[in-house]
Amino acid sequence: MEETDLERVLQWRNHPDVRRYMYTTHEISLEEHKSWFARTRSNPSISLLIFEQCGEPCGFVSIVRSRSRKIADWGFYTAPDAPKGTGRKLGQCALEYGFNELALHKLCGQALGFNESSINFHKALWFTEEGRLREQHFDGIAYHDVVCFGLLANEWQSFRKDEKGQTQ
Ligand SMILES: CC(C)(COP(=O)(O)OP(=O)(O)OC[C@H]1O[C@@H](n2cnc3c(N)ncnc32)[C@H](O)[C@@H]1OP(=O)(O)O)[C@@H](O)C(=O)NCCC(=O)NCCS
Repeated sequence: MEETDLERVLQWRNHPDVRRYMYTTHEISLEEHKSWFARTRSNPSISLLIFEQCGEPCGFVSIVRSRSRKIADWGFYTAPDAPKGTGRKLGQCALEYGFNELALHKLCGQALGFNESSINFHKALWFTEEGRLREQHFDGIAYHDVVCFGLLANEWQSFRKDEKGQTQ
């Protein structure tokens, strides 16, 4: 992600169909977004990535290695008007990047209990549901469960090999 992506990413992040699934759901100002970017871009443990298809930006991924160099948490969203299938491709590319470029041992994700798309998405990308933190998140109105997912590098490699074998 570069400075020139800032306004586009802010538009995606502020879209009601994206922000309703985030831990913070208020509309983010350009100022706040810029200061987040200035803070995070200089942090070597954080990768901020733009997913492109045919040169067209259509999604955002963050990979944060705060516990160790080899274990990361990810966050992501597709452009609200992106065509069907974009999410899956974004996920596959992010996993390639995480396990090949960053040489991760494990990638972790969290989804709010009502975010069925994200829960299905993690399962479709071979993540294991590792736990459910009951009523762990308060959105100002109600408490929601947080569903925790994890994928190990060796699991990703073997699932990927199987999938490639099936398509050949
Ligand atoms: C989470 C997110 C990236 C998941 O992506 P996705 O919705 O699975 O993306 P896809 O476009 O690959 O798939 C959308 C649906 O179309 C289906 N689909 C995929 N390719 C298709 C095609 N060519 N034709 C028809 N349907 C298709 C998928 O099976 C999926 O169906 P499902 O929702 O019943 O599983 C996306 O929903 C998103 O950005 N959500 C808002 C932000 C968010 O929740 N972020 C995660 C926080 S934890």
